[in-house]
Parts: sequence; C-alpha cells; structure tokens
Amino acid sequence: MPSLNDSVVLLTGGATGIGRAIALDMAAAGATVAIGDTNIDDGQRTVEEILSAGGKASFRSCDVAESEQVTALVNGAVADFGQLDVLVNDAGISGGSRRLHELGIDAWDRTIAVNLRGTFLCARAAIPHLLRRPRSAMVNIASTYGIIGAPMAPSYCASKGGIVNLTRQLAVDYSPDGLRVNAICPGYIDTDMGGGRASLPPTERAAAQARREANAALQPIGRQAQALEVARVATFLASDEASFMTGSIVTVDGGCTATYRHGS
Ligand SMILES: NC(=O)c1ccc[n+]([C@@H]2O[C@H](COP(=O)([O-])OP(=O)(O)OC[C@H]3O[C@@H](n4cnc5c(N)ncnc54)[C@H](O)[C@@H]3O)[C@@H](O)[C@H]2O)c1
Repeated sequence: MPSLNDSVVLLTGGATGIGRAIALDMAAAGATVAIGDTNIDDGQRTVEEILSAGGKASFRSCDVAESEQVTALVNGAVADFGQLDVLVNDAGISGGSRRLHELGIDAWDRTIAVNLRGTFLCARAAIPHLLRRPRSAMVNIASTYGIIGAPMAPSYCASKGGIVNLTRQLAVDYSPDGLRVNAICPGYIDTDMGGGRASLPPTERAAAQARREANAALQPIGRQAQALEVARVATFLASDEASFMTGSIVTVDGGCTATYRHGS
C-alpha cells in the first residue's frame, strides 16, 4: 500500500461517496485528513470513523464556491496540523439532467461555481502552503464526462472538461517546484451523487438504480465501481509512488472511454 505517513491532506467532499472513501483510504495510509464539505453530519461522521480507527482528522463546514469559506478551510487546516502536503478536490454536483437550451442560467452558474470555481478557489488558497513542502501533490476528481460528451449534462461536462485542462495547466506551472498535479476521471461509480436517488419514492429509486446498472453493464467491465476503487488510485497519485506522474488524466472507468457503447 502507498504510504502517506506524515502527510497532511486537505480534502473537499469527504462527507459521502468517493470523497468519503478517499478520506478513509488516505487515513489508513497514514495521512492526517482535513475535510471540508457542506454536509456537516456526514462530514463529521467520516472524521469520527478515522478517529476511532486511531487516525487524525478534522472537519470544517465549507462551500467550495465561496472564497472566504475556502480561505478559512485552508487556513484552519494549516493552523490545526502545521502543514499541507496534499489537496484533493472532490466536491462536486451533477448539475441536473437537461439539454442546454432547457437549462436555467442559475443552474449552469451553480454547477460551474461548485465544480470548476471550487477547484480553482481551493487550489489558489492551498498552493502557497503546498509549495512550502519539498514534495506535494494535488488530485482533482474530474469525470469521464470531462473527456467525452454525454447526454443531458452540458454544465457538468463543461465544468469537468475545465478541471481536466486546468489540471494539465497547473502541472506545467508548478511541477518544477515539486507540486505534482493529476486528475482522476471516474466512470460509473456506485454512489448516490447529490443524494438524488435517496430522495425518490422506492419504486422510482429502484428504477433509477436499474437504469444506472444497465448503462454500466454496457461498458467493458460491465458493472459500477465501488468508491474504494477510485480512492485507491487517488491515494497512489498523492503518494511518492507516483513520483513521475504529473499532468496525467487517469481514467478509472471500467473501460467505458476506451470504446463506444456496445451491447452483446
Ligand atoms: N459517482 C460517479 O459515478 C462519479 C463519476 C464521475 C465523477 N464523479 C465525481 O466524483 C466526485 C464525488 O462524487 P460522488 O459520486 O462521491 O457524489 P457525492 O454526492 O456522494 O459526493 C459529493 C460530495 O461533495 C459535497 N459537496 C457538494 N457540493 C459542495 C460544495 N458546494 N462545497 C463543498 N462540498 C460540496 C457533498 O456534500 C458530498 O459530500 C464529484 O466531483 C463527482 O463529480 C462521480
């Protein structure tokens, strides 16, 4: 297992889903994990799980789209733990399911604000601290929807495409100073992104889950992934095991971007 001993990780979106799995996996690899999220109850639950396993962690409520909250998150983590070695930008929203001409301007703005501006704000606040360390890393959670077009997801695709190329750009500017910057593009991961399915009546929830599983079944590895299967890659990219990787866009997608959709 890659080691993150003596590393302090700042992670957004650690309350649920992929971010929660990253928090637990990085803590198991030895990291101290500072979490920022809008979901206070579940964020604190992740921290309690790390603490009860003997690790170190903290939680702060933070909307990544809000500059002052992001500054408070980053400064708070540094005040608590003295340094910052890794930033993981995981917080994200799906932005609703509409074609572009049916999408409200506010919905577009909010998706870009959380997914892309949030990544920008967290990077901007964290980079001065990351550059104080001899080696540091940033891992951005993008999406396969950031490298291909997908139906009914204009703001999500645009925001994740922005994260993909921002990752390459940051790698160019900061790798000479020891900060490696990489992105992960997950495919179908078995989370309830945004809590959307959980809020549906049982029959609709089952139908939505079945649709998702049917889509996932069309890809080369014909299933959804567990969040841990993404977290393991994030932990690797954050660690010195990935010492020559920067500007890489790593798909963790069961092969779905390796081919067009195919049924049997
Ligand atoms: N689940 C998938 O299939 C999938 C596929 C590709 C990419 N992703 C990406 O993975 C990341 C995690 O998604 P997930 O599937 O675990 O969903 P999730 O909804 O379980 O996790 C998202 C986390 O971000 C937090 N969050 C949302 N808005 C926020 C804000 N403004 N400020 C701070 N925190 C905020 C949520 O509270 C939650 O903890 C997202 O960036 C998502 O776009 C997910």
